[in-house]
Amino acid sequence: MKKIVFDNISWRYSSSKEWALKEINAEIEEGEVVLVTGPTGAGKTTFCRLLNGLVPHGYPGTLRGRVYIDGRDTTTIPISKIANFVGSVFEDPESQIVWTNIKDEVIFPLENRRIQKDEMEERISQSLGLLGLLDKVDKTPYELSGGQKQRLAIASVIAARPSIIVMDEPTSQLDPVGRREVMEAIKRIRDEYNSTIIIVEHNIDALLNYADKMILLNEGCIVIQGEPDAYYSSVEDIVRYRGPLPECVELSYRISQITGKKFNCYNTDCLKEAIEKVIGNKVIEVNEWDIVNFDSKGDTAVELRDVSFVYADNTKALDGVSITVKKGEMVGIIGVNGSGKTTLAKTLNGLLKPSSGSIKIFGKDVNAYKQAELVGKVGYVFQNPIHQISCRTVREEIAFGMKNLGFNEEIIRHNVETLLERFNLSKFGDAHPYNLSRADQFRVTFASVVAMNPDILVVDEPTTGQDHAQSHEIMNFLQEENKKGKTILVITHHLRFVAQYIQRLIIMLNGKILYDGQTRNAFSNYSLMRSSLIEPPEMSKLSYLLADKGFHGLISVDEFIDRIAELATF
Ligand SMILES: Nc1ncnc2c1ncn2[C@@H]1O[C@H](COP(=O)(O)OP(=O)(O)OP(=O)(O)O)[C@@H](O)[C@H]1O
Ligand SMILES: [Mg+2]
Repeated sequence: MKKIVFDNISWRYSSSKEWALKEINAEIEEGEVVLVTGPTGAGKTTFCRLLNGLVPHGYPGTLRGRVYIDGRDTTTIPISKIANFVGSVFEDPESQIVWTNIKDEVIFPLENRRIQKDEMEERISQSLGLLGLLDKVDKTPYELSGGQKQRLAIASVIAARPSIIVMDEPTSQLDPVGRREVMEAIKRIRDEYNSTIIIVEHNIDALLNYADKMILLNEGCIVIQGEPDAYYSSVEDIVRYRGPLPECVELSYRISQITGKKFNCYNTDCLKEAIEKVIGNKVIEVNEWDIVNFDSKGDTAVELRDVSFVYADNTKALDGVSITVKKGEMVGIIGVNGSGKTTLAKTLNGLLKPSSGSIKIFGKDVNAYKQAELVGKVGYVFQNPIHQISCRTVREEIAFGMKNLGFNEEIIRHNVETLLERFNLSKFGDAHPYNLSRADQFRVTFASVVAMNPDILVVDEPTTGQDHAQSHEIMNFLQEENKKGKTILVITHHLRFVAQYIQRLIIMLNGKILYDGQTRNAFSNYSLMRSSLIEPPEMSKLSYLLADKGFHGLISVDEFIDRIAELATF
Protein backbone atom coordinates (compact mmCIF):
# COMPACT_ATOMS: atom_id res chain seq x y z
CA MET A 1 0.00 0.00 0.00
CA LYS A 2 1.16 3.55 -0.69
CA LYS A 3 2.21 5.41 2.44
CA ILE A 4 0.72 8.74 1.38
CA VAL A 5 -1.75 9.51 -1.37
CA PHE A 6 -2.79 13.01 -2.39
CA ASP A 7 -6.05 12.41 -4.20
CA ASN A 8 -6.94 15.45 -6.24
CA ILE A 9 -6.49 17.82 -3.33
CA SER A 10 -7.41 21.51 -3.51
CA TRP A 11 -7.38 23.86 -0.54
CA ARG A 12 -8.40 27.49 -0.10
CA TYR A 13 -7.83 29.37 3.17
CA SER A 14 -10.99 31.22 4.10
CA SER A 15 -8.95 34.43 4.40
CA SER A 16 -8.00 34.22 0.71
CA LYS A 17 -9.76 34.30 -2.64
CA GLU A 18 -7.10 32.14 -4.29
CA TRP A 19 -6.70 28.40 -3.96
CA ALA A 20 -3.42 27.69 -2.15
CA LEU A 21 -3.21 24.22 -3.68
CA LYS A 22 -4.98 23.07 -6.82
CA GLU A 23 -5.78 19.50 -7.81
CA ILE A 24 -2.72 17.94 -6.26
CA ASN A 25 -2.15 14.30 -7.13
CA ALA A 26 0.88 12.48 -5.77
CA GLU A 27 1.80 9.13 -4.31
CA ILE A 28 4.61 8.60 -1.83
CA GLU A 29 5.99 5.17 -0.94
CA GLU A 30 6.98 4.13 2.55
CA GLY A 31 10.64 4.99 3.28
CA GLU A 32 10.95 7.53 0.46
CA VAL A 33 12.76 10.84 0.90
CA VAL A 34 10.81 13.43 -1.05
CA LEU A 35 12.20 16.88 -1.73
CA VAL A 36 9.55 19.54 -2.38
CA THR A 37 10.61 22.87 -3.86
CA GLY A 38 9.05 25.83 -5.57
CA PRO A 39 9.14 29.62 -5.60
CA THR A 40 7.67 31.85 -2.89
CA GLY A 41 3.93 31.41 -2.58
CA ALA A 42 3.88 28.09 -4.46
CA GLY A 43 2.01 26.29 -1.67
CA LYS A 44 4.86 24.37 -0.04
CA THR A 45 3.91 25.09 3.57
CA THR A 46 0.28 24.21 2.85
CA PHE A 47 1.51 20.94 1.33
CA CYS A 48 3.23 20.20 4.69
CA ARG A 49 0.09 21.18 6.63
CA LEU A 50 -1.96 18.68 4.66
CA LEU A 51 0.31 15.97 6.00
CA ASN A 52 0.42 16.97 9.65
CA GLY A 53 -3.31 17.69 9.71
CA LEU A 54 -3.04 21.44 10.35
CA VAL A 55 -4.98 21.63 7.10
CA PRO A 56 -7.90 21.13 7.30
CA HIS A 57 -8.10 20.67 11.11
CA GLY A 58 -6.28 23.82 12.24
CA TYR A 59 -7.34 26.40 9.64
CA PRO A 60 -10.73 27.49 8.33
CA GLY A 61 -11.01 26.94 4.60
CA THR A 62 -12.40 24.82 1.79
CA LEU A 63 -11.06 21.36 1.02
CA ARG A 64 -11.65 19.31 -2.08
CA GLY A 65 -10.23 15.85 -2.56
CA ARG A 66 -8.52 13.81 0.16
CA VAL A 67 -5.12 12.92 1.62
CA TYR A 68 -4.71 9.30 2.67
CA ILE A 69 -2.02 8.13 5.06
CA ASP A 70 -1.75 4.35 5.27
CA GLY A 71 -5.08 4.27 3.49
CA ARG A 72 -6.83 6.45 6.08
CA ASP A 73 -8.47 9.72 5.13
CA THR A 74 -6.76 12.42 7.24
CA THR A 75 -9.97 14.43 7.60
CA THR A 76 -11.33 11.59 9.73
CA ILE A 77 -8.33 11.44 12.12
CA PRO A 78 -8.11 14.04 14.91
CA ILE A 79 -4.98 16.18 14.72
CA SER A 80 -3.76 14.90 18.10
CA LYS A 81 -3.75 11.37 16.69
CA ILE A 82 -2.00 12.45 13.48
CA ALA A 83 0.78 13.90 15.66
CA ASN A 84 1.50 10.36 16.88
CA PHE A 85 2.74 9.26 13.49
CA VAL A 86 3.61 12.50 11.69
CA GLY A 87 6.45 14.56 13.18
CA SER A 88 6.80 18.15 11.97
CA VAL A 89 9.62 20.66 11.82
CA PHE A 90 8.19 24.10 11.16
CA GLU A 91 9.56 26.99 9.13
CA ASP A 92 10.37 29.00 12.26
CA PRO A 93 11.96 26.67 14.80
CA GLU A 94 11.27 29.15 17.59
CA SER A 95 7.54 28.72 17.10
CA GLN A 96 8.09 25.11 18.10
CA ILE A 97 9.95 25.68 21.34
CA VAL A 98 7.73 25.00 24.35
CA TRP A 99 10.07 24.22 27.21
CA THR A 100 12.77 26.14 29.02
CA ASN A 101 15.16 23.21 28.96
CA ILE A 102 16.74 21.52 25.96
CA LYS A 103 16.26 17.97 27.21
CA ASP A 104 12.58 18.60 27.99
CA GLU A 105 12.11 19.78 24.43
CA VAL A 106 13.17 16.33 23.23
CA ILE A 107 11.51 14.38 26.06
CA PHE A 108 8.06 15.89 25.60
CA PRO A 109 7.09 14.02 22.41
CA LEU A 110 8.59 10.84 23.89
CA GLU A 111 6.47 11.07 27.04
CA ASN A 112 3.44 11.48 24.84
CA ARG A 113 4.38 8.18 23.23
CA ARG A 114 4.93 6.50 26.62
CA ILE A 115 8.53 5.58 25.90
CA GLN A 116 10.37 3.85 28.79
CA LYS A 117 12.92 5.89 30.73
CA ASP A 118 16.04 3.97 29.60
CA GLU A 119 15.06 4.11 26.00
CA MET A 120 14.23 7.77 26.41
CA GLU A 121 17.77 8.52 27.61
CA GLU A 122 19.22 6.60 24.69
CA ARG A 123 17.05 8.45 22.18
CA ILE A 124 17.87 11.83 23.70
CA SER A 125 21.59 11.32 23.45
CA GLN A 126 21.31 9.80 19.97
CA SER A 127 19.27 12.65 18.51
CA LEU A 128 21.12 15.48 20.26
CA GLY A 129 24.38 13.80 19.26
CA LEU A 130 23.35 13.52 15.61
CA LEU A 131 22.49 17.22 15.61
CA GLY A 132 25.67 18.30 17.43
CA LEU A 133 23.90 19.61 20.54
CA LEU A 134 25.19 17.31 23.28
CA ASP A 135 27.44 19.99 24.74
CA LYS A 136 24.51 22.44 24.84
CA VAL A 137 22.14 20.53 27.15
CA ASP A 138 22.69 22.90 30.04
CA LYS A 139 21.38 25.87 28.07
CA THR A 140 17.78 26.92 27.69
CA PRO A 141 16.52 26.76 24.09
CA TYR A 142 16.46 30.55 24.06
CA GLU A 143 20.18 30.64 24.70
CA LEU A 144 20.91 28.86 21.45
CA SER A 145 21.98 30.49 18.19
CA GLY A 146 19.45 30.55 15.33
CA GLY A 147 20.89 27.47 13.65
CA GLN A 148 21.18 25.62 16.95
CA LYS A 149 17.46 26.21 17.56
CA GLN A 150 16.75 24.72 14.16
CA ARG A 151 18.93 21.72 15.06
CA LEU A 152 16.96 21.29 18.29
CA ALA A 153 13.63 21.26 16.45
CA ILE A 154 14.95 18.51 14.19
CA ALA A 155 16.45 16.53 17.09
CA SER A 156 13.15 16.47 18.97
CA VAL A 157 11.32 15.13 15.91
CA ILE A 158 13.99 12.55 15.12
CA ALA A 159 13.97 11.26 18.73
CA ALA A 160 10.27 10.46 18.42
CA ARG A 161 10.97 8.34 15.31
CA PRO A 162 7.58 8.96 13.73
CA SER A 163 6.69 6.97 10.65
CA ILE A 164 6.39 10.23 8.65
CA ILE A 165 8.60 13.29 9.11
CA VAL A 166 7.53 16.55 7.46
CA MET A 167 10.07 19.35 7.49
CA ASP A 168 9.39 22.87 6.24
CA GLU A 169 12.76 24.42 5.37
CA PRO A 170 14.55 22.56 8.15
CA THR A 171 18.06 23.44 7.04
CA SER A 172 17.58 27.07 6.02
CA GLN A 173 19.65 28.42 8.93
CA LEU A 174 22.19 25.62 9.05
CA ASP A 175 25.79 25.90 7.97
CA PRO A 176 26.64 23.72 4.94
CA VAL A 177 28.20 20.93 6.99
CA GLY A 178 25.18 21.06 9.30
CA ARG A 179 22.93 20.63 6.28
CA ARG A 180 24.76 17.47 5.31
CA GLU A 181 24.74 16.21 8.91
CA VAL A 182 20.99 16.67 9.09
CA MET A 183 20.55 14.72 5.90
CA GLU A 184 22.79 11.94 7.24
CA ALA A 185 20.71 11.86 10.43
CA ILE A 186 17.50 11.74 8.41
CA LYS A 187 18.87 9.00 6.21
CA ARG A 188 19.80 6.99 9.27
CA ILE A 189 16.30 7.31 10.69
CA ARG A 190 14.87 6.33 7.34
CA ASP A 191 17.19 3.32 7.00
CA GLU A 192 16.62 2.10 10.56
CA TYR A 193 12.91 2.80 10.99
CA ASN A 194 11.71 3.04 7.40
CA SER A 195 10.33 6.51 8.06
CA THR A 196 8.94 8.45 5.12
CA ILE A 197 10.49 11.90 4.86
CA ILE A 198 9.11 15.00 3.17
CA ILE A 199 11.41 18.01 3.06
CA VAL A 200 10.59 21.46 1.70
CA GLU A 201 13.72 23.43 0.78
CA HIS A 202 15.07 26.10 -1.57
CA ASN A 203 18.77 25.43 -1.17
CA ILE A 204 18.88 21.86 -2.26
CA ASP A 205 22.51 21.48 -3.35
CA ALA A 206 23.48 19.45 -0.27
CA LEU A 207 20.18 17.57 -0.17
CA LEU A 208 19.96 16.36 -3.70
CA ASN A 209 21.93 13.16 -3.32
CA TYR A 210 19.54 11.96 -0.62
CA ALA A 211 16.28 12.44 -2.50
CA ASP A 212 14.31 9.56 -4.00
CA LYS A 213 11.76 11.86 -5.49
CA MET A 214 11.40 15.54 -6.37
CA ILE A 215 8.24 17.61 -6.49
CA LEU A 216 8.14 21.13 -7.92
CA LEU A 217 5.19 23.30 -6.95
CA ASN A 218 4.23 26.52 -8.69
CA GLU A 219 1.18 28.64 -7.97
CA GLY A 220 -0.49 25.83 -6.07
CA CYS A 221 0.05 23.11 -8.69
CA ILE A 222 2.51 20.27 -8.97
CA VAL A 223 4.27 21.14 -12.21
CA ILE A 224 7.00 18.48 -12.25
CA GLN A 225 7.50 15.37 -10.16
CA GLY A 226 9.74 12.36 -10.49
CA GLU A 227 13.01 10.71 -9.57
CA PRO A 228 15.95 13.14 -9.55
CA ASP A 229 17.38 11.88 -12.88
CA ALA A 230 14.11 12.32 -14.70
CA TYR A 231 13.30 15.53 -12.87
CA TYR A 232 16.60 17.17 -13.79
CA SER A 233 16.38 16.08 -17.41
CA SER A 234 13.76 18.82 -17.86
CA VAL A 235 15.81 21.82 -16.78
CA GLU A 236 13.97 24.17 -19.17
CA ASP A 237 10.71 23.37 -17.41
CA ILE A 238 12.28 23.80 -13.98
CA VAL A 239 13.55 27.23 -15.01
CA ARG A 240 10.19 28.14 -16.52
CA TYR A 241 8.42 27.23 -13.27
CA ARG A 242 11.04 29.04 -11.19
CA GLY A 243 12.35 25.95 -9.40
CA PRO A 244 15.82 26.14 -7.85
CA LEU A 245 18.72 24.76 -9.84
CA PRO A 246 21.56 23.34 -7.77
CA GLU A 247 24.87 24.77 -8.98
CA CYS A 248 25.96 21.45 -10.49
CA VAL A 249 22.73 21.09 -12.46
CA GLU A 250 22.98 24.68 -13.65
CA LEU A 251 26.54 24.19 -14.86
CA SER A 252 25.70 20.90 -16.54
CA TYR A 253 22.79 22.57 -18.32
CA ARG A 254 24.89 25.49 -19.47
CA ILE A 255 27.65 23.20 -20.73
CA SER A 256 25.00 21.39 -22.77
CA GLN A 257 23.86 24.72 -24.15
CA ILE A 258 27.31 25.86 -25.28
CA THR A 259 28.46 22.49 -26.62
CA GLY A 260 25.20 21.26 -28.10
CA LYS A 261 25.78 17.91 -26.33
CA LYS A 262 23.41 16.72 -23.63
CA PHE A 263 24.89 16.44 -20.14
CA ASN A 264 22.75 15.52 -17.18
CA CYS A 265 24.88 15.92 -14.05
CA TYR A 266 23.95 16.81 -10.54
CA ASN A 267 27.18 16.12 -8.72
CA THR A 268 30.80 17.20 -9.09
CA ASP A 269 32.17 13.79 -10.12
CA CYS A 270 29.82 13.60 -13.08
CA LEU A 271 30.67 17.20 -14.01
CA LYS A 272 34.39 16.52 -13.87
CA GLU A 273 33.96 13.75 -16.45
CA ALA A 274 31.70 15.91 -18.60
CA ILE A 275 34.17 18.80 -18.62
CA GLU A 276 37.08 16.48 -19.39
CA LYS A 277 35.13 15.17 -22.35
CA VAL A 278 34.46 18.68 -23.58
CA ILE A 279 37.98 20.05 -23.25
CA GLY A 280 39.88 16.90 -24.24
CA ASN A 281 43.53 17.04 -23.25
CA LYS A 282 43.76 20.78 -23.16
CA VAL A 283 45.25 22.38 -20.13
CA ILE A 284 45.43 26.08 -19.70
CA GLU A 285 48.28 27.83 -17.94
CA VAL A 286 46.56 30.15 -15.54
CA ASN A 287 48.31 32.98 -13.83
CA GLU A 288 47.70 33.32 -10.15
CA TRP A 289 44.56 35.28 -9.42
CA ASP A 290 45.05 38.97 -8.77
CA ILE A 291 45.45 39.78 -5.13
CA VAL A 292 42.73 42.16 -4.07
CA ASN A 293 43.96 44.60 -1.47
CA PHE A 294 41.11 45.49 0.85
CA ASP A 295 43.08 47.73 3.13
CA SER A 296 42.39 50.71 0.95
CA LYS A 297 42.78 54.19 2.29
CA GLY A 298 39.75 56.15 3.33
CA ASP A 299 37.54 56.44 6.37
CA THR A 300 37.10 53.52 8.69
CA ALA A 301 33.43 52.64 9.14
CA VAL A 302 33.73 49.85 11.69
CA GLU A 303 36.66 49.09 13.95
CA LEU A 304 36.67 46.36 16.55
CA ARG A 305 39.70 45.97 18.81
CA ASP A 306 40.08 42.83 20.86
CA VAL A 307 36.35 42.53 21.47
CA SER A 308 35.05 39.74 23.69
CA PHE A 309 31.51 38.98 24.73
CA VAL A 310 30.32 36.58 27.42
CA TYR A 311 26.62 35.68 27.82
CA ALA A 312 24.98 35.37 31.25
CA ASP A 313 25.49 31.59 31.25
CA ASN A 314 29.25 32.12 30.74
CA THR A 315 29.31 31.23 27.04
CA LYS A 316 32.16 33.16 25.50
CA ALA A 317 30.58 34.02 22.17
CA LEU A 318 33.25 36.51 21.04
CA ASP A 319 36.87 35.99 21.91
CA GLY A 320 39.34 38.73 21.09
CA VAL A 321 37.80 39.87 17.79
CA SER A 322 39.59 42.60 15.82
CA ILE A 323 38.21 43.76 12.48
CA THR A 324 38.54 46.92 10.40
CA VAL A 325 36.00 47.70 7.70
CA LYS A 326 36.49 50.75 5.52
CA LYS A 327 33.63 52.97 4.41
CA GLY A 328 32.11 51.57 1.23
CA GLU A 329 33.26 47.97 1.69
CA MET A 330 31.01 44.93 1.33
CA VAL A 331 32.03 42.10 3.61
CA GLY A 332 30.62 38.59 4.04
CA ILE A 333 30.69 36.87 7.42
CA ILE A 334 30.37 33.10 7.49
CA GLY A 335 30.98 30.41 10.09
CA VAL A 336 29.35 27.31 11.53
CA ASN A 337 26.26 27.59 13.73
CA GLY A 338 27.13 29.15 17.05
CA SER A 339 30.45 30.61 15.90
CA GLY A 340 29.47 34.12 17.05
CA LYS A 341 28.22 35.88 13.90
CA THR A 342 24.96 37.18 15.34
CA THR A 343 26.61 38.16 18.60
CA LEU A 344 29.17 40.15 16.62
CA ALA A 345 26.44 41.86 14.59
CA LYS A 346 24.53 42.83 17.73
CA THR A 347 27.56 44.56 19.25
CA LEU A 348 27.79 46.91 16.27
CA ASN A 349 24.58 48.78 17.01
CA GLY A 350 24.75 48.63 20.78
CA LEU A 351 22.23 45.79 21.25
CA LEU A 352 24.96 43.93 23.14
CA LYS A 353 27.76 45.64 25.05
CA PRO A 354 31.12 43.90 24.74
CA SER A 355 32.55 42.41 27.93
CA SER A 356 35.92 43.82 26.92
CA GLY A 357 37.59 45.56 23.98
CA SER A 358 36.44 48.57 21.98
CA ILE A 359 34.14 49.20 19.05
CA LYS A 360 34.27 52.35 16.99
CA ILE A 361 31.76 53.41 14.37
CA PHE A 362 33.16 56.09 12.07
CA GLY A 363 35.97 56.68 14.55
CA LYS A 364 33.68 57.27 17.55
CA ASP A 365 33.21 54.79 20.37
CA VAL A 366 29.90 52.99 20.03
CA ASN A 367 29.02 53.88 23.64
CA ALA A 368 29.47 57.59 22.93
CA TYR A 369 26.56 57.62 20.44
CA LYS A 370 23.02 58.46 21.48
CA GLN A 371 20.80 55.45 20.63
CA ALA A 372 18.80 57.31 17.96
CA GLU A 373 21.99 58.56 16.33
CA LEU A 374 23.46 55.05 16.25
CA VAL A 375 20.29 53.60 14.70
CA GLY A 376 20.68 56.11 11.88
CA LYS A 377 24.29 55.03 11.35
CA VAL A 378 24.11 51.25 11.74
CA GLY A 379 21.03 49.45 10.45
CA TYR A 380 20.76 45.87 11.68
CA VAL A 381 18.33 43.38 10.16
CA PHE A 382 17.72 40.58 12.67
CA GLN A 383 18.19 36.90 11.85
CA ASN A 384 14.67 36.15 13.04
CA PRO A 385 12.26 38.80 11.71
CA ILE A 386 9.74 38.06 14.48
CA HIS A 387 12.14 39.67 16.94
CA GLN A 388 12.04 42.91 14.98
CA ILE A 389 8.39 43.25 14.02
CA SER A 390 6.35 45.64 16.14
CA CYS A 391 3.49 47.00 13.96
CA ARG A 392 0.14 45.72 12.81
CA THR A 393 0.50 46.16 9.08
CA VAL A 394 3.38 45.69 6.69
CA ARG A 395 3.11 49.34 5.58
CA GLU A 396 3.33 50.59 9.17
CA GLU A 397 6.23 48.25 9.85
CA ILE A 398 8.26 49.61 6.94
CA ALA A 399 7.43 53.19 7.98
CA PHE A 400 8.18 52.60 11.68
CA GLY A 401 11.92 53.33 11.77
CA MET A 402 11.62 56.31 9.42
CA LYS A 403 8.93 57.83 11.67
CA ASN A 404 11.14 57.39 14.72
CA LEU A 405 13.97 59.15 12.94
CA GLY A 406 11.66 62.04 12.02
CA PHE A 407 11.53 61.56 8.22
CA ASN A 408 8.95 63.75 6.53
CA GLU A 409 5.56 62.22 5.66
CA GLU A 410 6.01 62.57 1.92
CA ILE A 411 9.35 60.72 1.93
CA ILE A 412 8.01 58.01 4.22
CA ARG A 413 5.08 57.35 1.90
CA HIS A 414 7.30 57.31 -1.15
CA ASN A 415 9.89 54.98 0.42
CA VAL A 416 7.26 52.57 1.69
CA GLU A 417 5.62 52.18 -1.71
CA THR A 418 8.95 51.88 -3.54
CA LEU A 419 10.21 49.20 -1.16
CA LEU A 420 6.94 47.24 -1.21
CA GLU A 421 7.29 47.08 -4.96
CA ARG A 422 11.00 46.34 -4.96
CA PHE A 423 10.75 43.43 -2.52
CA ASN A 424 7.67 41.87 -3.99
CA LEU A 425 5.52 42.79 -0.99
CA SER A 426 2.87 45.01 -2.62
CA LYS A 427 0.10 42.50 -2.14
CA PHE A 428 0.85 42.35 1.60
CA GLY A 429 0.81 46.11 2.27
CA ASP A 430 -2.21 45.98 4.61
CA ALA A 431 -1.61 42.49 5.96
CA HIS A 432 -0.45 41.82 9.51
CA PRO A 433 3.26 40.93 9.35
CA TYR A 434 2.64 37.90 11.60
CA ASN A 435 0.47 36.34 8.90
CA LEU A 436 3.30 36.31 6.37
CA SER A 437 5.77 33.48 5.76
CA ARG A 438 9.13 33.83 7.46
CA ALA A 439 10.81 34.74 4.17
CA ASP A 440 8.26 37.47 3.47
CA GLN A 441 8.58 38.75 7.04
CA PHE A 442 12.33 39.02 6.59
CA ARG A 443 11.91 41.18 3.49
CA VAL A 444 9.56 43.43 5.48
CA THR A 445 12.10 43.99 8.26
CA PHE A 446 14.84 44.34 5.67
CA ALA A 447 12.81 47.05 3.92
CA SER A 448 12.11 48.84 7.21
CA VAL A 449 15.83 49.02 7.97
CA VAL A 450 17.05 50.07 4.52
CA ALA A 451 14.27 52.69 4.45
CA MET A 452 16.09 54.52 7.26
CA ASN A 453 19.05 54.90 4.92
CA PRO A 454 21.77 53.93 7.41
CA ASP A 455 25.42 54.37 6.41
CA ILE A 456 26.26 50.85 7.55
CA LEU A 457 23.93 47.95 6.87
CA VAL A 458 24.36 44.72 8.85
CA VAL A 459 22.14 41.94 7.51
CA ASP A 460 21.83 38.64 9.37
CA GLU A 461 21.06 35.80 6.97
CA PRO A 462 19.10 37.66 4.27
CA THR A 463 18.73 34.65 1.99
CA THR A 464 17.23 32.33 4.61
CA GLY A 465 13.99 30.89 3.30
CA GLN A 466 14.04 33.08 0.19
CA ASP A 467 13.64 31.43 -3.19
CA HIS A 468 16.51 31.88 -5.62
CA ALA A 469 14.99 34.83 -7.45
CA GLN A 470 14.40 36.69 -4.17
CA SER A 471 17.87 35.82 -2.90
CA HIS A 472 19.40 37.33 -6.04
CA GLU A 473 17.13 40.33 -5.70
CA ILE A 474 18.34 40.94 -2.14
CA MET A 475 22.00 40.43 -3.02
CA ASN A 476 21.67 42.71 -6.05
CA PHE A 477 20.05 45.34 -3.88
CA LEU A 478 22.89 45.14 -1.36
CA GLN A 479 25.41 45.42 -4.17
CA GLU A 480 23.64 48.52 -5.53
CA GLU A 481 23.61 50.12 -2.08
CA ASN A 482 27.29 49.29 -1.75
CA LYS A 483 28.02 50.98 -5.08
CA LYS A 484 26.26 54.07 -3.75
CA GLY A 485 28.87 54.12 -0.97
CA LYS A 486 27.18 52.20 1.81
CA THR A 487 29.16 49.85 4.00
CA ILE A 488 27.59 46.41 4.02
CA LEU A 489 28.12 43.41 6.28
CA VAL A 490 26.27 40.27 5.27
CA ILE A 491 26.04 37.17 7.44
CA THR A 492 25.01 34.08 5.52
CA HIS A 493 25.28 30.31 5.16
CA HIS A 494 24.54 30.37 1.45
CA LEU A 495 27.99 30.27 0.00
CA ARG A 496 27.04 30.32 -3.67
CA PHE A 497 25.73 33.86 -3.13
CA VAL A 498 28.90 34.77 -1.26
CA ALA A 499 30.99 33.46 -4.18
CA GLN A 500 28.94 35.44 -6.65
CA TYR A 501 28.52 38.76 -4.84
CA ILE A 502 31.10 39.25 -2.12
CA GLN A 503 34.85 39.72 -2.47
CA ARG A 504 35.97 40.07 1.12
CA LEU A 505 35.16 37.27 3.51
CA ILE A 506 35.47 36.86 7.25
CA ILE A 507 35.27 33.35 8.67
CA MET A 508 34.42 32.87 12.35
CA LEU A 509 34.88 29.86 14.57
CA ASN A 510 34.41 29.62 18.34
CA GLY A 511 34.03 33.38 18.66
CA LYS A 512 37.31 34.09 16.88
CA ILE A 513 38.20 35.39 13.44
CA LEU A 514 39.79 32.51 11.58
CA TYR A 515 40.18 34.23 8.23
CA ASP A 516 39.80 37.71 6.83
CA GLY A 517 40.62 38.11 3.15
CA GLN A 518 39.59 37.35 -0.39
CA THR A 519 36.58 35.06 -0.83
CA ARG A 520 38.25 33.23 -3.71
CA ASN A 521 41.34 32.40 -1.66
CA ALA A 522 39.23 31.16 1.21
CA PHE A 523 37.09 28.81 -0.87
CA SER A 524 40.14 27.57 -2.78
CA ASN A 525 42.03 26.77 0.41
CA TYR A 526 41.07 23.24 1.27
CA SER A 527 42.81 23.13 4.62
CA LEU A 528 41.24 26.44 5.70
CA MET A 529 37.82 25.11 4.75
CA ARG A 530 38.45 22.03 6.85
CA SER A 531 39.77 23.87 9.86
CA SER A 532 36.84 26.29 9.78
CA LEU A 533 34.44 23.31 9.47
CA ILE A 534 32.95 24.82 6.35
CA GLU A 535 31.97 22.94 3.26
CA PRO A 536 32.85 25.11 0.27
CA PRO A 537 30.31 25.72 -2.51
CA GLU A 538 29.96 23.00 -5.15
CA MET A 539 31.86 25.02 -7.76
CA SER A 540 34.90 25.26 -5.49
CA LYS A 541 34.82 21.52 -4.95
CA LEU A 542 34.73 21.06 -8.71
CA SER A 543 37.69 23.40 -9.14
CA TYR A 544 39.74 21.23 -6.75
CA LEU A 545 38.89 18.18 -8.87
CA LEU A 546 39.96 19.95 -12.07
CA ALA A 547 42.82 21.98 -10.62
CA ASP A 548 45.45 20.35 -12.85
CA LYS A 549 43.48 21.31 -15.98
CA GLY A 550 43.56 25.01 -15.21
CA PHE A 551 40.38 25.36 -13.20
CA HIS A 552 42.06 26.21 -9.93
CA GLY A 553 40.39 28.99 -7.95
CA LEU A 554 37.09 29.15 -9.86
CA ILE A 555 34.13 29.63 -7.54
CA SER A 556 31.04 30.31 -9.64
CA VAL A 557 29.12 28.78 -12.53
CA ASP A 558 29.81 31.85 -14.70
CA GLU A 559 33.55 31.48 -14.21
CA PHE A 560 33.42 27.80 -15.18
CA ILE A 561 31.49 28.56 -18.32
CA ASP A 562 34.00 31.24 -19.35
CA ARG A 563 36.92 28.88 -18.78
CA ILE A 564 35.27 25.98 -20.63
CA ALA A 565 34.51 28.28 -23.55
CA GLU A 566 38.22 29.18 -23.69
CA LEU A 567 39.28 25.54 -23.75
CA ALA A 568 36.61 23.65 -25.62
CA THR A 569 36.72 22.74 -29.26
CA PHE A 570 33.17 22.81 -30.52
N1 LIG B 1 21.20 34.56 24.72
C1 LIG B 1 22.21 33.69 24.80
N2 LIG B 1 22.62 33.21 26.00
C2 LIG B 1 23.65 32.34 26.10
N3 LIG B 1 24.36 31.88 25.04
C3 LIG B 1 24.00 32.33 23.82
C4 LIG B 1 22.93 33.25 23.64
N4 LIG B 1 22.80 33.51 22.31
C5 LIG B 1 23.76 32.79 21.70
N5 LIG B 1 24.49 32.07 22.60
C6 LIG B 1 25.65 31.19 22.34
O1 LIG B 1 26.71 32.00 21.85
C7 LIG B 1 27.41 31.35 20.79
C8 LIG B 1 27.35 32.26 19.54
O2 LIG B 1 26.00 32.42 19.14
P1 LIG B 1 25.58 33.29 17.88
O3 LIG B 1 24.10 33.42 17.90
O4 LIG B 1 26.38 34.52 17.86
O5 LIG B 1 26.05 32.32 16.70
P2 LIG B 1 25.86 32.44 15.11
O6 LIG B 1 27.22 32.32 14.52
O7 LIG B 1 25.06 33.60 14.76
O8 LIG B 1 25.09 31.08 14.80
P3 LIG B 1 23.93 30.73 13.68
O9 LIG B 1 24.66 30.47 12.41
O10 LIG B 1 23.35 29.46 14.22
O11 LIG B 1 23.00 31.87 13.65
C9 LIG B 1 26.74 29.99 20.63
O12 LIG B 1 27.50 29.04 21.32
C10 LIG B 1 25.38 30.16 21.27
O13 LIG B 1 24.94 28.94 21.83
MG1 LIG C 1 23.17 33.82 13.90
